[in-house]
Amino acid sequence: MKRLQYHRYGGPDVLTLADAPTPTPGRGQVLVRVRAAAANAMDWKIRRGEMRPMTGRKFPRGVGHDFAGVIERVGEGVTRLQVGDEVLGAARLQDAGAFAEFVIADEPSVAHKPEALTFVQASTLPVVGLTAYQAVTRVGRLQPGQEIFINGCLGGVGRVAVQVATGVGASVTGSCRSGSEADAQQLGVDTVVPFDLDHAPLTGQFDVVFDTAGTLPYATARRMLRPGGRIVDIVPSVTKLARSILPGPYTAFMGRPDSDDLQHVADAAGRGEIVTRISRTVTLGDAIPALIELENAPTSGGGKLVLTID
Ligand SMILES: NC(=O)c1ccc[n+]([C@@H]2O[C@H](COP(=O)([O-])OP(=O)(O)OC[C@H]3O[C@@H](n4cnc5c(N)ncnc54)[C@H](OP(=O)(O)O)[C@@H]3O)[C@@H](O)[C@H]2O)c1
Repeated sequence: MKRLQYHRYGGPDVLTLADAPTPTPGRGQVLVRVRAAAANAMDWKIRRGEMRPMTGRKFPRGVGHDFAGVIERVGEGVTRLQVGDEVLGAARLQDAGAFAEFVIADEPSVAHKPEALTFVQASTLPVVGLTAYQAVTRVGRLQPGQEIFINGCLGGVGRVAVQVATGVGASVTGSCRSGSEADAQQLGVDTVVPFDLDHAPLTGQFDVVFDTAGTLPYATARRMLRPGGRIVDIVPSVTKLARSILPGPYTAFMGRPDSDDLQHVADAAGRGEIVTRISRTVTLGDAIPALIELENAPTSGGGKLVLTID
């Protein structure tokens, strides 16, 4: 099969489209024929070696996590998924490999694709959808009538977080780049503020502060909280992870595989309640320049790059 891969951590020049053996699913895993695969910031963070403690030193490594496709084979012990099922999911962080004709995924990381979604639409959901949903509802525990601040509300995760929060019945304040206010309002953000806002007037206002960009200083986020409020940050660092294990309102959060949560997000998208923005689709053969362009783009606007594989 064809897949994007690399033999050492580094810049975009390490990427190649190569022939690789089609993998065999192990116990609890499925082999999926990929029809569409979406890019995420973690794809190039991993390739640069920034997540080395989690991704190890085994090469060649595949690229890409988010996919939608059709189950080709199921491993021993898989009961919920069958050959021929149309699915969406994410490859393991350690293995990646969704930018390929076939990918392996663990059963809990895969959900059924609603008929109303195309493969391209479905492929954009797993990483940003699951992370936003779990951050807002499971870690943030956002309730109807509460208020949430979403830093970076027009990013891939931010966009889904806004829709999950408004779906819960919460009121949303979101930050975005100046000039994008109308886009944020259209998405459902009640109050739109710039990235570089003086946060003092927002003191004590929020039940949940969700930092999707990882740029909000802890002291600022802390001041913005109501008593009992929670801060969720999805861009971890060593300092942030250390803070996260201390008692207090702060969690540095990594999305975790959960097929029920992923199915919930997929079904909501199938009903039109969660909509992702797709900025570009290219074939696997044209993927490398498109991925480099996205990696170097000063602003993504939250639009997803999707690779299609026929
Ligand atoms: N922990 C996890 O499980 C997990 C899962 C998914 C993603 N992530 C991480 O979360 C981050 C966001 O992911 P994404 O897919 O949403 O990326 P994205 O689509 O690139 O969105 C990032 C957003 O942050 C905004 N932003 C940039 N500078 C900012 C600033 N100074 N203040 C506030 N917002 C700012 C961007 O605005 P512009 O586009 O206007 O620049 C954009 O809206 C990435 O670092 C990614 O690696 C973590």
